[in-house]
Amino acid sequence: MEKVIIFDTTLRDGEQSPGVALTAIDKMEIAHQLERLGVDIIEAGFPKTSPGDFEAVQAIAREIKGSQIAGLAHANADAVDACWDAVKVGTQPRIHVFLSSSDIHIMHQLAKDKETVLEMARTMVARAAGYCSDVEFSPMDATRSDRSFVYWMLEECIAAGATTVNIPDTVGYAIPEEFAAFIKDIYANVKNIHKARVSVHCHNDLGLAVANSLAAVSVGARQIETCINGIGERAGNAALEEVVMAIKTRGDFMNVETNINTQELYRTSRMVANLTGMSLQSNKAIVGANAFRHQSGIHQDGVLKMRETYEIMDAKDIGWPSGGAEIVLGKVSGRHGFKARLEELGYELTEEELSRAFMAFKELADKKAEIDDRDLEAIVADKLRTQTEIYHLDFVQVSCGDHATPTATVRLIGPDGAIHADAALGTGPVDAVYRAINRIVDIPNELTEFHVKSVTEGIDAQGEVTIRVEGGGRSYLGRGADTDVIVASAKAYMNALNRMLAIDRRQDAEVRANP
Ligand code: KIV
Ligand code: ZN
Repeated sequence: MEKVIIFDTTLRDGEQSPGVALTAIDKMEIAHQLERLGVDIIEAGFPKTSPGDFEAVQAIAREIKGSQIAGLAHANADAVDACWDAVKVGTQPRIHVFLSSSDIHIMHQLAKDKETVLEMARTMVARAAGYCSDVEFSPMDATRSDRSFVYWMLEECIAAGATTVNIPDTVGYAIPEEFAAFIKDIYANVKNIHKARVSVHCHNDLGLAVANSLAAVSVGARQIETCINGIGERAGNAALEEVVMAIKTRGDFMNVETNINTQELYRTSRMVANLTGMSLQSNKAIVGANAFRHQSGIHQDGVLKMRETYEIMDAKDIGWPSGGAEIVLGKVSGRHGFKARLEELGYELTEEELSRAFMAFKELADKKAEIDDRDLEAIVADKLRTQTEIYHLDFVQVSCGDHATPTATVRLIGPDGAIHADAALGTGPVDAVYRAINRIVDIPNELTEFHVKSVTEGIDAQGEVTIRVEGGGRSYLGRGADTDVIVASAKAYMNALNRMLAIDRRQDAEVRANP
């Protein structure tokens, strides 16, 4: 069967999801996981946009050897040069140049004429090809463009050295039959198209990103651009796990295959959800909590007799722990069983990390009778989050009630190991805690989002708090879990502040290095 190349842009288009800001460490962790997943090409970022993005792309290109690393560049010389400088340390670097092709973008955004745009595309692809043998070109907003202009642009860019031409449905406007016809017409009208691979990049504004990508493959496209969990600008991009499992499950119809190790899908999805803070809806295909749950009696009966009666995929092929079966631990579970379940969930912890996670598990088991995978994931995420902290939450206590002024006392352990304690009043207990923390960690910020959700069902469930704070022109995610939602709120705030402090320190170091 012919291969379809999977080009993953979670670290670039995915990071453009509103409110998502990944740290360099998060990006590297995701890049390693994408490599394990078998992604052919990782678009690691947009090097010209900031020194942080440049460094992250360069570090990923230096470290990841099992996937090709690409960087995105506007069609201008500085952006192409910065992109090359970032990716050139990789084993098979790719430069991805893009420029708008639609009249609406050309007139209202670029304010140029078509000949100038064509010349910019041609010369910048040629510049990229002078550096690197693997160059991708994307005519942005292709699906709303004059088709003959797109054909002309593609032909010129292939002649200038583009080895992949990517057709973006930038605003998610296409309908599958129409998009397939467009791709077919590209094959028919672009004379040198046989010299390039045709790729597609579909956005999900109408919920059709995966359908459009598959329709394009059915008429010859051989690269699909995806994001894990379908994240990305606005309604997101085609979800990698959905595209890949559709191709695997319906290989009989599609007659193509991918290089993806599907057993890593579950783990990758959870990692991206945790690090971006973009939780999955429970009915999300392939990786949502309900994807392999059967509620009605007739379905349960069928599945017990023969799994295939109501399941078209095997949860084990996606890497669901225990093939999707629910396993519950409790007070009497030992370290060995705890470790084994974590390994099934895809966590490989050091002995020290395991000991800290096991202590947290035992504390939770004293408060909660049944501990399932969702609790274990919350415990591990909480412990891993606190590993790189600058300030650690040592203690929090609040006093509140309908006739009391909420008061909080907090104790933090600072970077030098020094203990800092302070107290504050607030309009509510969370406000009081945050004010007390602010008195110690003096970093200006504004809380812009605050969500609490229950990790599992039941009155004894852990609460998981996700917040966003803004400071220095960036947005930072913070998460924390605990059976006490005030403690969870304090942990989430510390998590966000620690991320802010880490980035602040890196920026200081950058300024010192390049005064
Ligand atoms: O959606 C889009 O058009 C893009 C391009 C940069 C490929 O993300
Ligand atoms: Zn996009």
